[in-house]
Amino acid sequence: MFFMANWKMNKTIGESESYAERINELLEGEETKHTIVIFPPFTALRSLSEHLKGISVGAQDIYYEESGAFTGEISPIMVREAGASYVIIGHSERRRLFGETNESVQKKALSALKHGLTPVICIGESIGEREAGRTINIIKEQLGYIPKDKKVIIAYEPLWAIGTGRSASSEEIEEVHRFIKGIIDAPVLYGGSVNSRNSGEILGIEGVDGALIGGASLDADEFFSIIKSAK
Ligand code: 13P
Repeated sequence: MFFMANWKMNKTIGESESYAERINELLEGEETKHTIVIFPPFTALRSLSEHLKGISVGAQDIYYEESGAFTGEISPIMVREAGASYVIIGHSERRRLFGETNESVQKKALSALKHGLTPVICIGESIGEREAGRTINIIKEQLGYIPKDKKVIIAYEPLWAIGTGRSASSEEIEEVHRFIKGIIDAPVLYGGSVNSRNSGEILGIEGVDGALIGGASLDADEFFSIIKSAK
């Protein structure tokens, strides 16, 4: 199973070091067969990667070029050097707030693969799209832009379940994950209001290979409880 913590725009370097200390303590002596990855803000990548034991780190985004006149952007080479081995691409917050498109997601995914980063590509429908019965069409369209590479990981995150406290139902998750797996042979994670109370059930759904966790991952004890809830 994959357990991925997307911290979004949270935690300073100091705060991320305290977190690393606590999660190392909790995981010490645990024989874990899981892949655990933390995605801090860029500024904390390097120090977090140096402090964590047995946990990988990833970037929350990259630009697809290697270097050049792209003020404010960060390249795959830079995040690799800072310790990242994974990168989240196409998170709905980036699509909604920062103009990320299916086309830019595709370019970033190809660039990540070229530079040895594992892309965790986020897809999902809005509440309007779900209510209009368009969920599967939206997912299919988004998947059309994703490289069919064996290193790719998909995260299904329905927009209406992110940060709302309302996760998708087991039936909704199972239907979409089955559809995704019919198109691409990749691990598929679920994201959207996952916490230690609902994670046992969500991780038990057929076709769910792990979780991408936002808010609940900010507390090391809570994140550890989610990991422990996997059978
Ligand atoms: P929440 O877990 O806070 O709903 O966020 C999910 C998410 O967006 C992870 O990428």
